Amino acid sequence: MTYLKQKLQESAAYIKNIIGESEIHIAIILGSGLGNLADKIENAIFIPYKDIPNFPLSTAPGHVGRLVIGTLSNKKVLCFQGRFHFYEGYDMATIVFPIQVLKFLNINNLLITNAAGGINTNFNVGDLMLITDHIKLTSENPLRGINPSFLGPRFFDMSYTYDRELIDLTKKIAKEQNLDLKEGVYHYLTGPSFETPAEIRMARLVGGDAVGMSTVPEAIAAVHMGIKVLGISCITNMAAGILEQPLTTEEVIKTGESVKLKFTALVSTIVERWN
Ligand code: HPA
Repeated sequence: MTYLKQKLQESAAYIKNIIGESEIHIAIILGSGLGNLADKIENAIFIPYKDIPNFPLSTAPGHVGRLVIGTLSNKKVLCFQGRFHFYEGYDMATIVFPIQVLKFLNINNLLITNAAGGINTNFNVGDLMLITDHIKLTSENPLRGINPSFLGPRFFDMSYTYDRELIDLTKKIAKEQNLDLKEGVYHYLTGPSFETPAEIRMARLVGGDAVGMSTVPEAIAAVHMGIKVLGISCITNMAAGILEQPLTTEEVIKTGESVKLKFTALVSTIVERWN
């Protein structure tokens, strides 16, 4: 048995020992400022990351650092209340370790949320954006190295990273909720410095609609394992140089909090209708 497989099994065994063997339908990663969706989870069981063998620890602001497992819209869900970023010093393999544990919990669906800066000038602060695709110009990849073939193949298709049916479902629900849901391409950069205005102009030229420091490593790891992915960004600020004002972390967290009603309504219904 490989070392990684053993570590993943240890983490999964610890979680299963607490939550039992019941099937979990969807895993949800809660982005900066969006963690309060976890308050909606019924019969919640909390498992701090620090207690789970081999798990990294969240150090980012607005990331609590625990699993919340329970029921949302009559479906069993597992929420990551806090995720891991390259800027925290973790390597890509560590960032995706908790996602790879999902395979050993038999979870085949993943909703990824994040806070992002708006590049598309048709977007407004507080908008939600359905991620239709992503761009990663950094050479780092979470699957660099010996392929963990017990998780997935060496080379794998990324043509439909964000599941087409789930994208259609989300658009339909947004329409029913009269929600002005934007859609676009998420441009990944590692941070922790926010981008320069020139970098944002470049990101727009190459096709980015929003910019952020997460999501892409996790999406790659999930696709590798054949897990279905849906991604939603909260546009917490306009990216550097778009408005004549500096960017602050406070704005990112504050906007996340101000969208919580529409975000929770959208996500709860997606979960309800996610087959
Ligand atoms: N840039 C990068 N990451 C972000 C931003 C941004 O403007 N806003 C929230 N996360």
